[in-house]
Amino acid sequence: MRVGISIFQTAGKIIAGWGSLNQLAVEVKGLGAQSVLIICDPVIEKIGLAERVKNQLASLGVKLGIFSEVEPEPRLQVVEKCLRVINEGGYDLLVAVGGGSSIDVAKAASILVTNSGTIKDYLGVNLVARPGIPVVAVPTTAGTGSEVTPIAILSDEEDQLKKGVVSPHLLPRVAIIDPELTVTMPPHITAATGMDALTHAVEAYISINANASPVTDALALEAIRIISRSLRTAVANGQHKEARSQMAMASLMAGIAFANAGVGAVHALAYPLGAQFHVPHGVANAVLLPYVMEWNMLGALSRFKDMALAMGEKVEGLSERAAAERFVEAVRQLSADIRIPSRLRDLGVTAEAIPGMAEGASKVTRLLANNPRQLSVDDIREIYERAF
Ligand SMILES: [Fe+2]
Repeated sequence: MRVGISIFQTAGKIIAGWGSLNQLAVEVKGLGAQSVLIICDPVIEKIGLAERVKNQLASLGVKLGIFSEVEPEPRLQVVEKCLRVINEGGYDLLVAVGGGSSIDVAKAASILVTNSGTIKDYLGVNLVARPGIPVVAVPTTAGTGSEVTPIAILSDEEDQLKKGVVSPHLLPRVAIIDPELTVTMPPHITAATGMDALTHAVEAYISINANASPVTDALALEAIRIISRSLRTAVANGQHKEARSQMAMASLMAGIAFANAGVGAVHALAYPLGAQFHVPHGVANAVLLPYVMEWNMLGALSRFKDMALAMGEKVEGLSERAAAERFVEAVRQLSADIRIPSRLRDLGVTAEAIPGMAEGASKVTRLLANNPRQLSVDDIREIYERAF
């Protein structure tokens, strides 16, 4: 049982459910915006979703613009470019439509409008002095949780590292989670983002962060339960309304949980895979999850048993350790079913890169501090080698 003082924060308002995108104009009006910039990637623009959002807001009679230059694993420069567009156009509200990248770029740019300096000045924890202009986040994937997190993850090209801006001022004012927007996601992205959500829930549930609380536990455990029952269906049949709705809610719950409780070693070890080998975030997490959990098990045996139960495993009569192992096996089976590769070599990672990756991951102390079992550089290297 967690007994210490904890702090819980989330987005200002969360609107969720099939068709909830229709609420967007009411929310934007409620925030008193005069000019709205829609932030997305080229794909969202190409499939007409940016235009659809723009049309929804047309009735408000406010100035509208689209910035569609967000890229996967966005570089710091993209945020600076977005900021220039905001400043030149005098926009006072941002609507981010897309995956984690678009929402993160909007969150990062929003605080630069009201705080001086460049994005580099804010890489780190709690360095943002003032709230930014309001962000309304509309996720189109079910996984990153960015719509409810105080974090923006960006790539620094100079040293090939992923870096984070972490501040409560990054929390979106409104999050609109409409599962209908996720039905066009192809199976491999559904699988990867779904496993990212599972990783958030698992790492939040076993986190030793001071803000991990019974509230985050409840959300995380329920997210694990839902994902283990819905992700296969969402991957197999993207049009399945119930599976998509379940995944959207589970991703949201996992996002709220880890925004407070934090994530741990899986995310820390996944960072170098993204920065050096451009492995998509969800895939990197999914491949590493069972290997890191084998390591973590000893640090949180009874919580692993809880998670095995949440995944529908039968643990009656088993020792705590055997029950915990069932959880790791259940994760492996889920990954295999949805065709997540099982080894780092399948992702293009080379054996020679492992020592450097271990060095890099060991520096992600912000996340490793949440992990229920400590990891030295040698431990990290060993986990990478097992996963290779
Ligand atoms: Fe993640």
